[in-house]
Amino acid sequence: MNMGLPGYYYYDPKIFELEMKTIWCNSWQWVARVSDLPKKGDYLTYEAGEQSIIVINQGNGQLIAMHNVCPHRGASLVQGKGNCHQLVCPYHAWVYNLEGQLKNIPQANLFEDLDFSTIQIQPVQLDTWGGFIFVNLANSSESLSDYLAGFSDYLKQYNHPWEDLIEVARWSYTEAINWKFIVENYVEDYHFNTLHPKSLDLFDFKNVYTTTSGRHCLIEVPYTQEEFADLKLSLPWEPQNFSYQGYIFPNLMVNTDNHHVSLWRVVPISPISTRLEIIIYQTKMQLSNSFRASEKWKIIFDQVLQEDFAICRNLQKNAHSMAYQVSHLARMRELGIAHFYKVLSEFLVISY
Ligand code: FES
Ligand SMILES: [Fe+2]
Repeated sequence: MNMGLPGYYYYDPKIFELEMKTIWCNSWQWVARVSDLPKKGDYLTYEAGEQSIIVINQGNGQLIAMHNVCPHRGASLVQGKGNCHQLVCPYHAWVYNLEGQLKNIPQANLFEDLDFSTIQIQPVQLDTWGGFIFVNLANSSESLSDYLAGFSDYLKQYNHPWEDLIEVARWSYTEAINWKFIVENYVEDYHFNTLHPKSLDLFDFKNVYTTTSGRHCLIEVPYTQEEFADLKLSLPWEPQNFSYQGYIFPNLMVNTDNHHVSLWRVVPISPISTRLEIIIYQTKMQLSNSFRASEKWKIIFDQVLQEDFAICRNLQKNAHSMAYQVSHLARMRELGIAHFYKVLSEFLVISY
C-alpha cells in the first residue's frame, strides 16, 4: 500500500496547477521582513505561485499588499523592489496612489462615466508577526495568528527579539525538484545519520523532537554535549541548547542557531522546478560578537543542502517509476511527512 502521494503528483502540470489554485491561493505565505521596507513608498514584489503581489509601505508604520495587476487592462505595475510616491502603470500610464486608488489617467476625456473612486488595485490580506510579513490571497477569515497555530509561541523560545533581526546574507538555489520533495526532506530527520553524518555533526541526531501544530511542523534539534560545552565557552550570553527549527506551511522553513537565524523560502516555479531562497539574519548582539563569517556559513549550508538536493533529485527521477511508493513512515522521525500528506489532502483530492 502506498502511504504517500502517487508519483505523478511530483511532475504532473495539472496537479501543479491545482496546487497553485488551492494551496498557494488559500494559505498565509511569508513574503518579506518588515525591515525590508523601512521608508514610506518602499515597495517589493513577491510571486505567490502564479500570482504577483506588491507590498508597499504607506508611512505611519502601515504596510499593505495588493495584486501587481493594473485594473485597466492587466499589466504588471512594478517589477522587483524600489521606492515610489505613486504607482504609474507602464502600459498606458494610469496613476494610482500608494493605497492603490486611481488618481489620474492620460486623456481622461476618452472615457465616458469613469468614476475614479470605483477603481482600485485589488487588495490582498497582509499581516505581520515578529517582523515577518505574510500575505493571504484568499479573503480568508482565518487570521494569521490562528493560522500560525502556536508556531509563534514555539519560536519565542529562541530568546531573542524576532523583530530586531538584521539580514546578513542571502542566496538561492534553483533545483529540478518538485517543491513537495524539498518540504518532505526538510520535515524528517530520519536521514541525518545517512546523509549528513559530518555536515550536521553538531546536532544530537537521536534526540531530535518533532511535533505538529496546525498545518506546521516544529522540530527541536539539540546540540551534542560537546558542541553545547563549546558554545557555552565561546558564546556565554547564548544559553540555548536547542536549534529551534520548523516548517510553516507552505513556504517557510525557520532555523535558529546560536549565531544566527536562517529563513529558507520554498518557491515553486514549475512542477519540476523549485527555488530555495536562503536568508541569514543576526541580532545586533550576534552581529557584534559572532566569530563565524557569513561566507563560512554559506559553505556549511551549501554542503548540507547539496547532500539533500542530490537525494531529492533522485526521488524526482524515481517518481516516474512504476514501483514508486512510500511503504512505511518511521515513528517520530518521519512524523512530519505524515502530517504534510494530511495537510495536502485537505486541499487536494488524492487519487491513485
Ligand atoms: S494596463 Fe495599466 S494603464 Fe493600461
Ligand atoms: Fe537533510
